[in-house]
Amino acid sequence: MGGSRSDVPVDLLVDRLATLATVDAAGAFTVLRDAALAAVDGRIVAVGPRDEVLRTVRPTEDAVVLERPTWSAVPGLVDCHTHAVHAGSRIEEFDLRTQGAGYEEIAAAGGGIRSTVRATRAAGETALTALATRRLERMRRLGTTTAEVKSGYGLDASTEAAMLRAARAAGTAAGVRVSTTLLALHATPPEALSPDAYVGDVLAGILPACAPLADAADCFLERGAFTAEQCRPYLEAARELGLRLRLHADQFSECGAVPLAVELGAASVDHLEATGPAGVAAIAASDLTAVCLPAAALYLDRPMPPARLLLDAGARVALSTDFNPGSAPCDSLLTIMTLACTQLHLSCAEALAASTAAPARVLGLEGEVGRLAPGYAADVVLLDDPDWRVAAYHLGHEPAAVVSGGRAVAGSATA
Ligand code: NIG
Ligand code: FE
Repeated sequence: MGGSRSDVPVDLLVDRLATLATVDAAGAFTVLRDAALAAVDGRIVAVGPRDEVLRTVRPTEDAVVLERPTWSAVPGLVDCHTHAVHAGSRIEEFDLRTQGAGYEEIAAAGGGIRSTVRATRAAGETALTALATRRLERMRRLGTTTAEVKSGYGLDASTEAAMLRAARAAGTAAGVRVSTTLLALHATPPEALSPDAYVGDVLAGILPACAPLADAADCFLERGAFTAEQCRPYLEAARELGLRLRLHADQFSECGAVPLAVELGAASVDHLEATGPAGVAAIAASDLTAVCLPAAALYLDRPMPPARLLLDAGARVALSTDFNPGSAPCDSLLTIMTLACTQLHLSCAEALAASTAAPARVLGLEGEVGRLAPGYAADVVLLDDPDWRVAAYHLGHEPAAVVSGGRAVAGSATA
């Protein structure tokens, strides 16, 4: 390794990687062999074929240097749709569903989301933070270095705000970059006189109180939840307050979510299990990202979202866990990549792009995370296989190590 004065000092060098896969700055999928990656202060300074990287960088005395010729590397995963802050359990409901009860039926009877609302309101912010920290720590061990976390189980100003603060505190404690989303229109709380009355409460109180704690606003536009007419003023007001817009769209039925999202310039439409050809075409013609959540479809025994049709029509597609206690108790984006390959008919490369660069864009973090390139956060998933595609191939894969903000944490192998 050269010692010329132009060498850049680095505190992390991952060297001799068998393969390194990433979407490059031009948006093209790239696989490098015999690669290296170097970072300083949590930021990548060089990535490429190892001889090129080693010509430009010099590890400092106390740098972490990993040489793993049998390993591969992919960008830290970006889970852009989770409900990781919540209390209580829905195991009872799960078992009822095994005996034939329906998810929407349980919700209509006061269970479902409302049962998690009761538990979340009762828990208090400290317990919510502790629960979310444990979940995010596990997600990080499984490769997620950036996660979006929604509120939506408080449905009053103080609990929604507590959920958003808990999400941020848990992210800091767990070493996961967290983006927060206010999901005030998730369900109508029991004390509200009607869905319309609750929308009024949200506009007058919950939204203005919680907007400073949130990066985005989301709503559940669905039969049995909220209509497009009810979501519109909420989304417009949220946009006025500077929040990005997200929609739970077409999970069970098409109720106008996609046209509303297009009209309001939302960042994403999420779910899409019920989206038909016109919706696919509208998404493809727009700037929206279609966030597909195959674990929710699998878990509720619903049709899979039309991810293949969306990609073939030219739409942007991202994948996420939808990690939540009711429809997707799944915290592994690697497992989602396997589902994407086997159920949504994505290639391994498409699944990786949809779990890294595409969701980063949904969160407005496209210049920051989701790629292995100079200037990006040093968030790296290291896999104990020379072929990076093990990430999707091995159902339930656990990374060998995960680097988040330049810091390596042990995964299933010791770094
Ligand atoms: O994304 N669809 C609405 N919200 C969540 C589920 C919430 C729950 O069942 O607790 C979802 O699937
Ligand atoms: Fe969701």
